[in-house]
Amino acid sequence: MATVTELLQPVELDLETLLSDLRSLIGAGHPILQAAAEHLFSAGGKKIRPGIVLLISRALSPEGDLTARHRRLAEITEMIHTASLVHDDVVDEAATRRGVATVHSRFNHRVAVLAGDFLFAQASWHLANLDDLEVVKLLSRVIMDLADGEVKQGLFRYDTGQSFETYLEKSYCKTASLIANSARAAGVLSDQTPQQLDQLYRFGRQLGLAFQVVDDILDFTGSEQQLGKPAASDLASGLLTAPALYALEEQPVLAGLIEREFSGEGDLEQALDLVRASDAIPRSRALAETFAREARESLQWLPDSPSRRALLELPEFVLSRLY
Ligand code: IPE
Ligand code: IPE
Ligand code: MG
Ligand code: MG
Repeated sequence: MATVTELLQPVELDLETLLSDLRSLIGAGHPILQAAAEHLFSAGGKKIRPGIVLLISRALSPEGDLTARHRRLAEITEMIHTASLVHDDVVDEAATRRGVATVHSRFNHRVAVLAGDFLFAQASWHLANLDDLEVVKLLSRVIMDLADGEVKQGLFRYDTGQSFETYLEKSYCKTASLIANSARAAGVLSDQTPQQLDQLYRFGRQLGLAFQVVDDILDFTGSEQQLGKPAASDLASGLLTAPALYALEEQPVLAGLIEREFSGEGDLEQALDLVRASDAIPRSRALAETFAREARESLQWLPDSPSRRALLELPEFVLSRLY
């Protein structure tokens, strides 16, 4: 299976430009906030979200070229994503991200809160300057969804009565909304028909849900070194994701451990073992596979090009992180 760099090869140079453009966009701010933002941009994430925007933009252009507005949309997408990570790591008290110390552990909480706000604000400013009201609405909705998702997640901590539906709504808000709406926005900038815009949105939505379910599985099965962030931390902090919710259906004793917030000796280890020994991981994997297949089906109509081929392989790549 291809690595993400191989997969994003049709837009590899575009992503290099994106990184240096992001640096100069952020550069105008306060030195400490700049250092904090730079810290994470240098660590370098996978750039899947701007990669998707750029691949869609190229796939939709007859000559396969990019406009400055498509590039700016990709930059805004990565800025919003990075801002959400800086804030998420404060809320989750995570020590590492992208293989390096998180902003709040490298600097402090005040800097992290401000650096996240600063990135969201920069993103909004550049968004408004695209001068396309529809695109502004799509991406500002994402910022609302991100906040909504974090709040929902907080409210349902240790709540064993929550439905699977709640989990999927939370996952849509935190992860799928950005991918779905930025994919659609790329289509808006390329003057696509309403049906095509719906398909682009659906691709991003289903891919985002697959991505989140995979991330939630990896939290149970991966190591910190492999993930670049702490492992086995979702359940420990009361976040009930797909594997935990499936395991609850099979192992009623798990509910008791969660409800007493793992306060007893060995509770957490027992709970992790229960999840890992149940059918929850294979069931979660099947769910991710369904979302990935639906994502792939949404883009069949694109005209053939290297970018289209890369987009159609992305769902498979997301699943391959599990193996
Ligand atoms: C992390 O996203 C947040 C989740 C939705 C799980 P990525 O795994 O895409 O993070 P980076 O950008 O590559 O660091
Ligand atoms: C990641 O959320 C941040 C957003 C998608 C907003 P999670 O808490 O689920 O993911 P990790 O484990 O920190 O990457
Ligand atoms: Mg987190
Ligand atoms: Mg997580």
